[in-house]
Amino acid sequence: MGITGMIYMVTMVFSLIVLILSSPTVGYDYFQFTQQYQPAVCHFNPTPCRDPPDKLFTVHGLWPSNSSGNDPIYCKNTTMNSTKIANLTARLEIIWPNVLDRTDHITFWNKQWNKHGSCGHPAIQNDMHYLQTVIKMYITQKQNVSEILSKAKIEPVGKFRTQKEIEKAIRKGTNNKEPKLKCQKNSQRTELVEVTICSDRNLNQFIDCPRPILNGSRYYCPTNNILY
Ligand SMILES: *[C@@H]1O[C@H](CO)[C@@H](O)[C@H](O)[C@H]1NC(C)=O
Ligand SMILES: *[C@@H]1O[C@H](CO)[C@@H](O)[C@H](O)[C@H]1NC(C)=O
Ligand SMILES: *[C@@H]1O[C@H](CO)[C@@H](O)[C@H](O)[C@H]1NC(C)=O
Ligand SMILES: *[C@@H]1O[C@H](CO)[C@@H](O)[C@H](O)[C@H]1NC(C)=O
Ligand SMILES: *[C@@H]1O[C@H](CO)[C@@H](O)[C@H](O)[C@H]1NC(C)=O
Ligand SMILES: *[C@@H]1O[C@H](CO)[C@@H](O)[C@H](O)[C@H]1NC(C)=O
Repeated sequence: MGITGMIYMVTMVFSLIVLILSSPTVGYDYFQFTQQYQPAVCHFNPTPCRDPPDKLFTVHGLWPSNSSGNDPIYCKNTTMNSTKIANLTARLEIIWPNVLDRTDHITFWNKQWNKHGSCGHPAIQNDMHYLQTVIKMYITQKQNVSEILSKAKIEPVGKFRTQKEIEKAIRKGTNNKEPKLKCQKNSQRTELVEVTICSDRNLNQFIDCPRPILNGSRYYCPTNNILY
């Protein structure tokens, strides 16, 4: 390779590095707070849950999200210190259990933190703050989806519900903002699996969830006959 070739190569490699470094980091402009209905999660998981599920919506995760692009993920990779979070675990085990394996909750929290929470700066400052924020939202601010549904007389008794009545019930608990509903179906029936409540980027107020699950997606909740 001649000197011109060398210069060309070096320039190309250098340009590539500059391009990669200057490509915009994906940020977030809102938060999704997703809760999962334990029996439905166990029912649709390929491997059965080790322990029987409770008839409760518990936390899946709090996700910084982007309404116009890909959601940011894996912004940091750290390991939670179980001693440091010890004063939170009793509450977390109730509201944020690892439904698939109740012998190991911390792996679930750590994964949610690394994949999602670590991208929530500045609203989320660190792993401890991530866990505390979820506790605040679910307990103090009463964003407990089971409770919100229950207040609208929708109890988990295995009845068929309409998409409208579920949405209406959630709206009552969220200042009339649109939730995101996720259903799964098999040959027999369709079940409500997840409810997502959305908030602005500062976690100050509820917003209509951007990017609803569209008709045609396998997770779309049909108009009628949703089991809960
Ligand atoms: C969301 O993603 C779009 C497309 O990648 C990007 O242009 C935008 O800056 C992102 N929003 C934020 C708040 O970072
Ligand atoms: C995070 O770090 C752990 C331990 O260093 C490693 O096993 C794991 O693959 C990493 N995960 C990601 C998503 O980078
Ligand atoms: C975990 O946190 C405790 C208490 O804050 C501290 O004493 C300990 O050194 C930490 N362990 C690790 C591995 O960072
Ligand atoms: C838990 O302990 C940390 C210090 O490790 C403290 O900052 C935090 O306020 C405590 N949280 C609660 C809810 O007691
Ligand atoms: C959430 O709401 C359900 C239904 O009202 C209730 O049984 C459960 O105890 C609540 N969880 C917490 C942590 O308040
Ligand atoms: C969803 O799409 C299916 C198939 O195209 C259609 O039969 C159904 O009416 C649609 N549901 C709604 C609520 O629009």
